[in-house]
Amino acid sequence: MLLDFKNLDDSTRYKVMSNTIIPRPIAWIVTEDNGILNAAPFSYFAPLSSNPAVVVVSIGKKDDKTPKDTLANILKNKKATICFVNSDNLEDMKLTANPLDKDRSEISTYNIKTRKIIEEYPPMISSSESALFCDFHSKIELNGKTTPIILEIKKQFVLDESISKNYHISLNNIARCGSGYKKLLE
Ligand SMILES: Cc1cc2nc3c(=O)[nH]c(=O)nc-3n(C[C@H](O)[C@H](O)[C@H](O)COP(=O)(O)O)c2cc1C
Repeated sequence: MLLDFKNLDDSTRYKVMSNTIIPRPIAWIVTEDNGILNAAPFSYFAPLSSNPAVVVVSIGKKDDKTPKDTLANILKNKKATICFVNSDNLEDMKLTANPLDKDRSEISTYNIKTRKIIEEYPPMISSSESALFCDFHSKIELNGKTTPIILEIKKQFVLDESISKNYHISLNNIARCGSGYKKLLE
């Protein structure tokens, strides 16, 4: 079968791509605005380069066509903490995908524990084995529906027992495969 993308609607294209380009890592992003902590997962997420150390995350719009809170917070405050998902926090991650009003925090609504590791960045989710502390780098203009943003990794937390002296890192990350989730290490 040859799929011609111009004949596929948005949700079919999403289904086809997310069942094919697998696994997709999940950026569980914590941002902060006016003292309100926001957390949400994003799997249109990929590394772009390690020099500079940058990743891309594509963030869509809310149903009312306004920017999702994560995007609004990053564009305003220029900081993001990207946490990784494992089997201990998978259910919490799913909860934070619920659309809450901007003045409601997913972190306090769902009682998710966080740790402040670096003063100038949003806190990381305590149960994550690794977190990337990022600065906003730039955004890519696509079509107005989704906004890919480039984030530069400035610092990374890795649980001591997950990293060796020569920087081998072994994390129990969970990724998105189609509409489901897969452990990357068995
Ligand atoms: C595993 C997973 C991956 C997701 N990936 C994306 C994504 O790449 N881009 C996007 O715009 N929304 C994505 N979503 C939906 C957002 O998490 C959701 O719209 C959330 O409410 C946004 O929250 P915010 O308004 O607080 O930023 C994903 C949801 C889940 C559960």
